[in-house]
Amino acid sequence: MPATISSIAHYVPPDVYPNSYFEKYLDTNDEWIKSRTGISERRFAKSGGTSDLIVPAAIECVERRGISMDDIDCIIVATVTPDYMFPCTAAVVQDKLGIKKAWGFDISAACSGFLFALTTAVKLVEGGGARKLLLCGADKMTSILDMDDRAQAILFGDGAGVCLIEQSDDPELGILDQLLYIDGAGGQYLHQKAGGSVRPASHESVDNKEHYIYQDGPAVFKAAVKGMADISMEIMEKNNLSADDVAWLVPHQANHRIISATASRMGLPEDKVMININKYGNTTAGTIPICLSEWWRNGQMHKGDRIVLSSFGAGFTWGAVYLRWSMEDY
Ligand code: UT7
Repeated sequence: MPATISSIAHYVPPDVYPNSYFEKYLDTNDEWIKSRTGISERRFAKSGGTSDLIVPAAIECVERRGISMDDIDCIIVATVTPDYMFPCTAAVVQDKLGIKKAWGFDISAACSGFLFALTTAVKLVEGGGARKLLLCGADKMTSILDMDDRAQAILFGDGAGVCLIEQSDDPELGILDQLLYIDGAGGQYLHQKAGGSVRPASHESVDNKEHYIYQDGPAVFKAAVKGMADISMEIMEKNNLSADDVAWLVPHQANHRIISATASRMGLPEDKVMININKYGNTTAGTIPICLSEWWRNGQMHKGDRIVLSSFGAGFTWGAVYLRWSMEDY
């Protein structure tokens, strides 16, 4: 049987920062931000770490399935903003949730983190390595965001999506295919310069703002438009899917223009595309599970729906997943 998403929930912090917040102290404006990115507002966490975004979503996800924390046997966290360099955030989450008999680890693949982790989770569940796997995609982007740089401060937000991955009870429903790629030559365009083993933290690295995101926006944009559209087409063709077959495209939310270009290559109208970048900005590993959770909760996803997930991000990493939704209506 294929693995499937058997429960889902998300959490975003309560504090809303509209574009007007940045107008007050940066040389930017609502019109530029909306027209260049599609973002109107985002959520910033005032305290805590990435695990604190995950925990409320994880509790809701497990409760919805009607099981207990003791039933969870594996935890995977996709993030580029772990609570600590080590131990892994999966360990912090395990402890905070009081899960007793699980193993787990983190996956670092930036904006493709959720799809890389989902694929790993699917292989584990299908191979018998886990039965009830808690899959978390979450980032507290404010922990690496230069709030004085208008080119990045406006782009990102904090948030988490959590799903439970189990074996499906229907061979036709669940996660049916995946394509994933990595190309380290793209690393130069989007990275964090210091804090790793090559350039450990020092007074100089802090003074030079090297613990923040570095992004060459136009270079990443160009690669993302091609990468996300190409891989979405590749997974459609591989699975003989026409635009009519696809109920939803769930794209990583980095820029509305990248999303529109992908949908247009796939021949999909925008009413078949999940877009919430306007409300949350780019929450990195959180974007795709937050979309899935919101749309399901809004009653817009139904059992049997054919869905394509698609992402592009730092690495470069990119991927697409084809699934058929197996949960009953919310
Ligand atoms: O999720 C991870 C992967 N990341 C992405 O997929 C992001 C991909 N890149 C993008 O989404 C876009 O490149 C950005 C939204 C980051 C930037 O948009 P852009 O249309 O590529 O703008 P740009 O960087 O080419 O900048 C155009 C102008 C520049 O001014 P000059 O040099 O033409 O005078 C920037 O300094 O816009 C300026 N600018 C801003 N102006 C007002 C940059 N940020 C802002 C801002 N407000 N916040």
